[in-house]
Amino acid sequence: MWTRRNVLKTLAAAGGMLATPATLRQAIGATAPDVILRLVAAPAEMAIRSGSETRGLRYTGEVLRGRGDAIRPSVGNLGPTLELRRGERVRIEVVNRTGDPTVIHWHGMIVPDSADGHPHQAVGSGGRYTAEFIVRNPAGTYLYHPHPHRITGRQTYYGLAGLLIVRDAREQDVGLPAPEHELALVLQDRRIGADNQFVFKRTMMDDMNGVLGDRVLVNGIDDAAFKVAPRPYRLRIANVSNARIYKLAWSDGRPLRAIASGSGLFSRAEGVQERPYLTLFPFERVELLEDFGARRDGAEIALVSGEFADVDDMMGSMMGQQSESGRRGGMGGMMGGMMSGGMMGGMMGGGMMGPSQGAKLHVARFTVSPGPRSRARALALPEPEPRVREGKYELRTELAFRHMRGFLNGRRFDAEDMMAVADDERLPVGEASVWTFDNDGGGAPMAHPMPHPVHIHGVRFRVIEHSSGSVPADLRDGMMDAGFKDTFGIFPGERVRVLVTPGVPGLFMYHCHNLEHEDGGMMRNCMFGPASMIGQGHG
Ligand code: C2O
Ligand code: CU
Ligand code: CU
Repeated sequence: MWTRRNVLKTLAAAGGMLATPATLRQAIGATAPDVILRLVAAPAEMAIRSGSETRGLRYTGEVLRGRGDAIRPSVGNLGPTLELRRGERVRIEVVNRTGDPTVIHWHGMIVPDSADGHPHQAVGSGGRYTAEFIVRNPAGTYLYHPHPHRITGRQTYYGLAGLLIVRDAREQDVGLPAPEHELALVLQDRRIGADNQFVFKRTMMDDMNGVLGDRVLVNGIDDAAFKVAPRPYRLRIANVSNARIYKLAWSDGRPLRAIASGSGLFSRAEGVQERPYLTLFPFERVELLEDFGARRDGAEIALVSGEFADVDDMMGSMMGQQSESGRRGGMGGMMGGMMSGGMMGGMMGGGMMGPSQGAKLHVARFTVSPGPRSRARALALPEPEPRVREGKYELRTELAFRHMRGFLNGRRFDAEDMMAVADDERLPVGEASVWTFDNDGGGAPMAHPMPHPVHIHGVRFRVIEHSSGSVPADLRDGMMDAGFKDTFGIFPGERVRVLVTPGVPGLFMYHCHNLEHEDGGMMRNCMFGPASMIGQGHG
């Protein structure tokens, strides 16, 4: 096992061998930051819907030095939006007044591990710390959220989360709508009691399936409505829900045109990706180019999450219908679908079973106001990024959920030794490696087949293979593997292979991003370093 000290020594010793990018050397050096921000996490009372205020947690922020527009205030219970520029040196002072330990992770951002927001970096309430990094990511839609072990789900649910948008001057040549014709939609499903208070965990089902809500807050607001001009918009959509998978669609049936994943624009070769609906797993983001000019003045359209067969098919697995065919087809599939989505929801809606995965949900309303019309321009998407040499290392991770707990290669996060890394959790920096994920189909006793959003810290990767045969038929057309990603969804019985090229050495993490699974220990460390650091038994 590698201890933290060990690792630092190895990384330092190998320093000469590492082709450290200039930006990284500057990050380690003492150059003064361009922007200094402060984020405070604290309890807050928020107007989420009409009636009494909702108690929760919230990030507030201010710019201490540099561009005043590096932080944009938000409404509802969402944290402010951080707007950073590629290449900028950023220092963020994090102040914890939550009453519990916390730490902030910059989801999707490639930062030194000292700034990554690993659970071992959490500070107690009343404490503060500083994160420092250079913005290396391409322009895109990233996130920040808490990452203390075991309470990430609770803190996020009560309101700690925000958008981190990276901008790049080069984006102006693409022909995208300007920032004033951009809308960001952060989707979070919640249960809200009659007194307007959040309802978090109620039953063991919440730990097992993840906490689901029966309504969707958009940017922290219930029943969000947007007035738009009859022209193209850039929509940044982020799923910041603890466990919910969305099947996003327009109420008028128009297809969605995706131009970016969470980690930058699609390349010219990939082009604009048109889908009848989009399947969005927790903490995935997608950017759309939506031409509201194609609708008549005064048109009212809604963004909805369409119904699909409940993939958290508790009843199915309890009744022993665990095979893919049993769950999807024939009597088993019918029973499962009826029980979980329809009948069970109807009989027990808001009761014992709570909201279900796959329920139809309203997301937001858009009204097209009359005005001068303009149509979408042709986009000049960027050239594909150069391919990186493929190395000989390969990792394999098997995901399983048994006895109510999630496992990665049979292991779980070690709260006693938070920096533990196994031999098969290391990758070389600067080479492309294939990392294969297999999701247990649930044949074993006490196994619970379920979908998992998988996330890797500190990298952007490409999905190179998705065994689409196991993706439920009613979600398949919405799967989006184009572009670079940091999070992907994997269904029971499925195999997903990603090509990942770590650029920054250090101790990072990979985990299920269903926040209840993550808090339950379905999370592990991974180490990126020089090839000499990688143990035997690889390749
Ligand atoms: Cu968005 Cu480790 O998390
Ligand atoms: Cu992350
Ligand atoms: Cu999971």
